[in-house]
Amino acid sequence: MTRASMVEPIIRIRDIAWIRLRSPDLDLQEDYLTTFGLERAERTANALYMRGTDPAHHIHITEKGDPAVLRIAFWARSLEDLHKLSRDGDGASAVEDIDEPGGGKRVRLTEHNGMGIEVVWGVEAVAALAVEPVTLNFGYNKQARTGHLLRVEHRPCRVKRIGHAVISTPEIEKSVAWARRHLGIVPSDDVHAEDDPNLLLASFNRVDAGEDYVDHHVMMFGRHANSGLNHVSFEVQDIDDLAVGHDAMMRKYGDLHLWGLGRHTLGSQIFDYWRDPWGRVHEHWTDTDVLNDSHEFRRHPKSTGLHSQWGPQAPQAFRDAASR
Ligand SMILES: [Fe+2]
Repeated sequence: MTRASMVEPIIRIRDIAWIRLRSPDLDLQEDYLTTFGLERAERTANALYMRGTDPAHHIHITEKGDPAVLRIAFWARSLEDLHKLSRDGDGASAVEDIDEPGGGKRVRLTEHNGMGIEVVWGVEAVAALAVEPVTLNFGYNKQARTGHLLRVEHRPCRVKRIGHAVISTPEIEKSVAWARRHLGIVPSDDVHAEDDPNLLLASFNRVDAGEDYVDHHVMMFGRHANSGLNHVSFEVQDIDDLAVGHDAMMRKYGDLHLWGLGRHTLGSQIFDYWRDPWGRVHEHWTDTDVLNDSHEFRRHPKSTGLHSQWGPQAPQAFRDAASR
């Protein structure tokens, strides 16, 4: 696939901003997310706003009510882009003021298979939270940490930022086309059926930032009979953070562990997957591939593309995840 063969997008998003869920019990949601490694940014009578260590005001919203996946949010690059999207996007809302902590403006849309999308701009930023970097002393670089002892605190991990969302969709080609036109994301890798190179099974897409390097994928689509959210994903600080985070989750929510630890092939992240108390899958990851526009798009058979480079392979329950 060449750039010239792709539809010109309405806008190009800057990054993913947050996930917006609905849950009947905000106390349980907050306890789960705190154990998962997020921190409370704000809580109102009707909603919970959680943040990571990066300066985003919040990266996870839960509204009170019956369980639902309401919307995935992305950052626009400018207010002008929001107006462009409102004008040209299929069924797009007007540019609205966000009447929530952090403020800002947004346009609401519905993705081809019914997933809610909001594109946002001008939400308040906050100060980053301090993080202590860890230096590793692997055999091929044995003098990296001279004279300092590595001690890992036993605590939940510390989520840095939201990284990507994955949508299950029966009409994957149409979902991908919708997202490329409305969000300006570009393909990093595709996965096709083992015995049929024309049967698209998964599409990994990244932010189009030209020559600047970005995560391998910000949005992925997987072909499935059911449509919904397969998972939402959060970057943690490093491998020790991921591992202590795993232990903290096992102690309190061990029955919700779904898949991991392992290392993906496409994107290369070290990962760990958890259901939340209402079944929505949340991922921890660290150490992703970053790409820019010199990346050569490739197509892979399922056996290599969706293979975990180490650790267990994906259980059926993970592959079937499609929360609405
Ligand atoms: Fe993921």
